[in-house]
Amino acid sequence: MLSIRTFDWSDYDAVVAVWAAAGRAVVPRAELAAKLTRDPELFLVAEDGEVVGVVMGTYDGRRGWILRLAVHPGRRRQGIASALVAELEDRLAELGCPRINLLVMPDNTAGLRFWQELGYLPMPDVLCTKPLAP
Ligand SMILES: CC(C)(COP(=O)(O)OP(=O)(O)OC[C@H]1O[C@@H](n2cnc3c(N)ncnc32)[C@H](O)[C@@H]1OP(=O)(O)O)[C@@H](O)C(=O)NCCC(=O)NCCS
Repeated sequence: MLSIRTFDWSDYDAVVAVWAAAGRAVVPRAELAAKLTRDPELFLVAEDGEVVGVVMGTYDGRRGWILRLAVHPGRRRQGIASALVAELEDRLAELGCPRINLLVMPDNTAGLRFWQELGYLPMPDVLCTKPLAP
């Protein structure tokens, strides 16, 4: 039976395998450890004997963000991503989050369809970014 639960470090290798199989960039351990100092309850896995999906949420006190959603290619169209996002939305709502943002590559038509199905609508904003010196 599918369960959605908070990430545990013992899940890390399985989560990396799901990200890799889904063609998503892997979050290195050190980066993940830094993220988990905040909102650890917003990093979720879907499991049914093994980890089959993952999603990372953050809340900055004003907006929620959804990052690195992935479902194993062999387990798609079974409602797993929808279940992950529904649980993450519930947890963000409990924190008082009024709105959730996310980024999708423009050529990810399946991803865009998925998000629109769940009510996430495209905005015209352009993402700008700048690395800070270490
Ligand atoms: C996008 C992704 C997370 C969807 O996972 P999933 O578990 O298959 O999604 P769900 O089963 O919950 O799909 C819910 C609905 O979204 C829509 N949807 C999902 N995948 C779709 C696709 N490939 N094409 C069109 N619509 C799709 C459908 O309406 C689907 O309902 P249905 O199966 O009853 O028709 C998965 O395909 C994936 O990991 N892709 C690679 C990584 C990625 O693109 N991540 C998200 C972008 S940031």
